[in-house]
Amino acid sequence: MEVITTIKEIKNKINEFKRNNETIGFVPTMGYLHEGHKSLIDRARIENTKIIVSIFVNPIQFGENEDLSTYPRNLEGDSDICKNSGVDILFAPTVQEMYPNGFSSFVEVTGITDCLCGKSRPSHFRGVTTVVMKLLNITSCTKAYLGEKDFQQYKVIEKMVKDLNIDTTLVPCPIYREDDGLAKSSRNSYLNSEERISALCLSKALKKAKIELDKNKDAKSIIEIIKNEISKEPLAKIDYIEIVSQDTLKPITTIKENVLIAIAVFIGKTRLIDNLLYNIK
Ligand code: PAF
Repeated sequence: MEVITTIKEIKNKINEFKRNNETIGFVPTMGYLHEGHKSLIDRARIENTKIIVSIFVNPIQFGENEDLSTYPRNLEGDSDICKNSGVDILFAPTVQEMYPNGFSSFVEVTGITDCLCGKSRPSHFRGVTTVVMKLLNITSCTKAYLGEKDFQQYKVIEKMVKDLNIDTTLVPCPIYREDDGLAKSSRNSYLNSEERISALCLSKALKKAKIELDKNKDAKSIIEIIKNEISKEPLAKIDYIEIVSQDTLKPITTIKENVLIAIAVFIGKTRLIDNLLYNIK
């Protein structure tokens, strides 16, 4: 595996791949890799001849009072995981390499970025689409692999790829959970042992909602069930609980189409998200 930090070098390498008719699977990440990322890499490995993983903690997707400076980092550990997973190139640029002095171009998807996480994190998706656009351009990948835990992020990137005619196929990959149900996230590392137990209220609430959904299609009462379950946890503070169309991300009242049940909850100071994709049979 090669570790590359400059755009010039990775582009040269990719040109070589293209000359050899390789297909490129790309997994964009912010590092501190876990089994969830590994499941994306494994999928990419099966479907492509070359694999690129990027590790870049993208400053422009963090709000002013968010966790940019404390975001967990472990390039050495990440590098081992990538090497052992058959990654060909680990791309780990610096902030200066991605945003040199004078950088002033941004990519913004409107509409579906205003709701859910976009409401509590107003400039977040603009930062995500800008960096992902850059990374897709740099890697000219055949397929890019994204986790469904950030389902809104997936939909926003999907819209950008469609609207801007980008030649990459996006592959959504299911949420990877710990044995006890907690959705894997690099931010789980912020939780102390008491908070780690509390954090289970997210997946427990969604599990309860799923059972109820088979007999009850009223969004308001399903939201109430989730709210009650999470409110039992003294360390939990709800940011949002919403049931929206998987297609438009607009709230729905009666569940007659495929929906996303999305939740964001603070456990202590750590903001966690989780979701359930419920499909009408
Ligand atoms: O999901 C993430 O880890 C990030 O938002 C992404 C897609 C790598 C962009 O920085």
